[in-house]
Amino acid sequence: MRIKYTICVVFVVALVIIEKENNIISRVSDKLAIKQAPQTALRPSGLPHVLWNHNGSFTLMNRRLENYSEHQDGMTRSRKHILLLTTTRTGSSFVGEFFNQQGDNMFYLFEPLWHVERMLALETRGTNATAAARAYRDVLQQLFLCDFSLLESFISPLPVDHITAALFRRESSSSLCDESVCSPFVKGVFERYHCKARRCGPLNLTVASESCLQKEHRAIKSVRVRQLETLRPLAEDPRLDMKFIQLVRDPRAVLASRMVAFAANYKNWKQWAMGGDVPADDDEVRKLKGNCDNIRMSAAVGLRQPSWLRRRYMLVRYEDVARFPVKKAREMYKFIGIPLTQRVKSWILRNTQASKEAGGVYSTQKNSSEQVEKWRDSLPFNIVQVVQRVCGPTLKLFGYKFVTSEKMLTDKSVSLIEDKVFNF
Ligand SMILES: *[C@@H]1O[C@H](CO)[C@@H](O)[C@H](O)[C@H]1NC(C)=O
Ligand SMILES: *[C@@H]1O[C@H](CO)[C@@H](O)[C@H](O)[C@H]1NC(C)=O
Ligand SMILES: *[C@@H]1O[C@H](CO)[C@@H](O)[C@H](O)[C@H]1NC(C)=O
Ligand SMILES: *[C@@H]1O[C@H](CO)[C@@H](O)[C@H](O)[C@H]1NC(C)=O
Ligand SMILES: *[C@@H]1O[C@H](CO)[C@@H](O)[C@H](O)[C@H]1NC(C)=O
Repeated sequence: MRIKYTICVVFVVALVIIEKENNIISRVSDKLAIKQAPQTALRPSGLPHVLWNHNGSFTLMNRRLENYSEHQDGMTRSRKHILLLTTTRTGSSFVGEFFNQQGDNMFYLFEPLWHVERMLALETRGTNATAAARAYRDVLQQLFLCDFSLLESFISPLPVDHITAALFRRESSSSLCDESVCSPFVKGVFERYHCKARRCGPLNLTVASESCLQKEHRAIKSVRVRQLETLRPLAEDPRLDMKFIQLVRDPRAVLASRMVAFAANYKNWKQWAMGGDVPADDDEVRKLKGNCDNIRMSAAVGLRQPSWLRRRYMLVRYEDVARFPVKKAREMYKFIGIPLTQRVKSWILRNTQASKEAGGVYSTQKNSSEQVEKWRDSLPFNIVQVVQRVCGPTLKLFGYKFVTSEKMLTDKSVSLIEDKVFNF
């Protein structure tokens, strides 16, 4: 009896000692692992070392090292540069707010390329796509590095001493209306895009640049870049950790929305909608096809995941954002690799729960779904057919179902949005 008891006690004591040792060993090896990580990580992975941890379970040392080098990566490249890449009438202002609302660690710019497009159009009477793409790329690259000088050369009137009262939609970028960027209000200076949050004087771009440098992350929204491929130098710039988010929308819905928003430019379409014949070889139709092809080609490059874009590209459908805004916002931030703040979540909830009647979030989603397919009531079947003809491959790639009859067009019990997962 006594012997058995003694053996038990010795056994327990031994276990306790071993456990303590393990703790020390584990702590020491943690340190060793951390110290050795950079060199060790370069070695081809051999046999995994097994280490005990405090819990008495064990961890593979390789795994630890992996995690450490991930952490290292995160330390040296934690600053993210996000480009929201899209076209007009795709809900891009709404999605842009996901970044604008993030808070103090995000510097957000709304359509800075507006100035570039406008200046080039004025100078060259019509746009030279090659020249424009190059200018967009260079301006974006500088802006992601908080350098406004190239953009300045496109602002009209030209800023004087880096001061401008003409920055397009300044008020849509909370970073440019921040207290730290807000110079004293000047009476008598007209600022068309003045801050709403507070009364500010004209923008001092030197101050904006300083503020940008202090922010951890930078995001820009643009509807002007035609081809993702033209931005390859940004993805390959070691100073930038680019994350491209391409936002797309059903081209039929986009056309319906543009016919309302930019009515003057869509007179022909309106005429055709009222029953006119759509000419087979029309400029407007060709333009639509060009837009669709650009969007599809950019997405095709992104989805193919060439090495320069690996982990840098995400495709998002407006329809999914409209129906599941918080979920999609979370996915985007996960892709970027930074936490989504409560502020963004609250903003989304405030701005999507238009009717807080019974049902809460559910009714929001339901209404958003209705909203998303509203175009089906306004776009006549003959126009839908034209879009499907010239944008067919685009519809297919993004998972928008073809409409085959007038009845199917207006029958909302049949959704035209296929469930589709693009990113893995
Ligand atoms: C180890 O214990 C800690 C808390 O003491 C716990 O958080 C952790 O999940 C445990 N790890 C394992 C692998 O069980
Ligand atoms: C280590 O990495 C693995 C996979 O990459 C992950 O599942 C695990 O949670 C990480 N552990 C820690 C402590 O970060
Ligand atoms: C467009 O711009 C590029 C680069 O500046 C130039 O080489 C080309 O000739 C231009 N094309 C036209 C049609 O003006
Ligand atoms: C703009 O800001 C910079 C940096 O703070 C400052 O040196 C400069 O004097 C300002 N310009 C004007 C006109 O106030
Ligand atoms: C939202 O959807 C519900 C149910 O279809 C409807 O009763 C309500 O009027 C809708 N609200 C808005 C603002 O569209």
